[in-house]
Amino acid sequence: MSLLLLLTIVALQSSPAISDPAVSYSGYKVWAISPRTNEENQFLGKMSQQYGLTVLREARFVNSSMDLVIPPTLERDLKNVMDNANIPFVVAINDLQTAIDNQNSNNDEIPNSRAAAHNMTWTNYHRLSNIYGYMSYLATTYPNLVTLINIGTSYEKRPLYVLRISNSSSPGTNPAIWIDGGIHAREWISPATVSYFIQQLVEVPANAKLLKNVDWYIMPVMNPDGYEYTFVSNRLWRKTRSVTSNPSCPGVDPNRNFGYKWGGLGTSTNPCSDIFKGTKAFSEPETLATSNYILGKSSQIKLYLTFHSYGQYALIPYGYDVVYPPDYNDMLALANKAVSKFTKYQFSVGNSAALLYAAAGGSDDWAKSIGIKYSYTFELADTGANGFTLPASQILPVGQDFFPALEVFVSQVATTTTVRATTTKPTTKLPTTATSKKPTITPCRCICP
Ligand SMILES: *[C@@H]1O[C@H](CO)[C@@H](O)[C@H](O)[C@H]1NC(C)=O
Ligand SMILES: *[C@@H]1O[C@H](CO)[C@@H](O)[C@H](O)[C@H]1NC(C)=O
Ligand SMILES: *[C@@H]1O[C@H](CO)[C@@H](O)[C@H](O)[C@H]1NC(C)=O
Ligand SMILES: [Zn+2]
Repeated sequence: MSLLLLLTIVALQSSPAISDPAVSYSGYKVWAISPRTNEENQFLGKMSQQYGLTVLREARFVNSSMDLVIPPTLERDLKNVMDNANIPFVVAINDLQTAIDNQNSNNDEIPNSRAAAHNMTWTNYHRLSNIYGYMSYLATTYPNLVTLINIGTSYEKRPLYVLRISNSSSPGTNPAIWIDGGIHAREWISPATVSYFIQQLVEVPANAKLLKNVDWYIMPVMNPDGYEYTFVSNRLWRKTRSVTSNPSCPGVDPNRNFGYKWGGLGTSTNPCSDIFKGTKAFSEPETLATSNYILGKSSQIKLYLTFHSYGQYALIPYGYDVVYPPDYNDMLALANKAVSKFTKYQFSVGNSAALLYAAAGGSDDWAKSIGIKYSYTFELADTGANGFTLPASQILPVGQDFFPALEVFVSQVATTTTVRATTTKPTTKLPTTATSKKPTITPCRCICP
């Protein structure tokens, strides 16, 4: 497809088909609350439900942090409630709208010569048209290396794009690494970081070693409808934008919509919930197209990486419950090796249900279930100070800190033979040789991943 045609399509399709007024979070605060007992934790759960509060993350353990959005109209009441219950909290974000306005306010300096070709940078978060425009630019500019693949269409008819990066004379024969981002709309650092990986792999000659004997399939924005919605309507939107049985509550949580143990723990049947699982597995065109594409390449893809935020975790399946795959130790060892490359951001590593909440229908569980041996969810920065409104000035630090881990994954995959993962029974016990560091306590899989 020609660049011009592509850009035209993107421009047409990104125009907001959205009538909702933009949601303002002016005067809204984010409270970080650390329940000290299970009773306090339950109390907070009930309180947020009763007041209809937006939960940015739930406390999983005693003394872990629950991040709540506090509307100005409820602040006094909620403060009384908290005082009466004698639960302390800290104000993590004093004015959410200010944080939102400041998140993406850098001046991009695009050299004139390049402005015509693409508008992508990593000093700001970008609309879908710039991300897609950049992918298209790369495919045009490096035709021997990069292929733009349209794998389907979103609910609102945006194209779903995967970029294949391969220096093989017969692409499709190398072992491959799959990377996706943007499953959850509001986690802006994810598409930014994933597109940074693309830039590094394609445009930095010193990284050519990462293309030796490995193909890459990279999808920076799996949920483009939701992503665009966070720019034009509601910065904190998480789900897809499909119509549900409740006209005032659209959207399905795509990371509860994958077809392995779909509908189990940590999911909701309520369309108004942020963890609504949908009417069936793969009800969403985005998860359906992605899973079908991956299935078609499942003998080639050896490693599945999906990027979310926030919390700084490397999460290992299974997440539907505290269940360890038979080769969990291999998965843990590789994850530990990968995070050992980080120098700026500390990540906690562990089984996702044990470390956070159980949550069924996640993409990582599904990828593991189809025989991709190494499957991980990464929760990028930060640990709550900025949360989803992580300033754009941290895109490059986050990407640069993570990038060396890709070398670890390449070394693993490039030496992997084509033996499929064993399908022996999973176990609920940690395999005995696992170096199971006690999870460094904090939040949850319930809302974040
Ligand atoms: C939680 O924190 C409080 C205050 O720091 C401490 O006294 C208590 O022992 C902690 N509880 C747990 C279960 O770690
Ligand atoms: C880049 O942005 C400028 C200014 O908005 C616009 O005129 C131009 O068409 C964009 N270029 C591409 C390739 O999207
Ligand atoms: C692609 O492979 C060729 C042949 O092995 C090599 O000369 C070239 O440097 C590689 N290019 C990249 C971008 O990796
Ligand atoms: Zn997420």
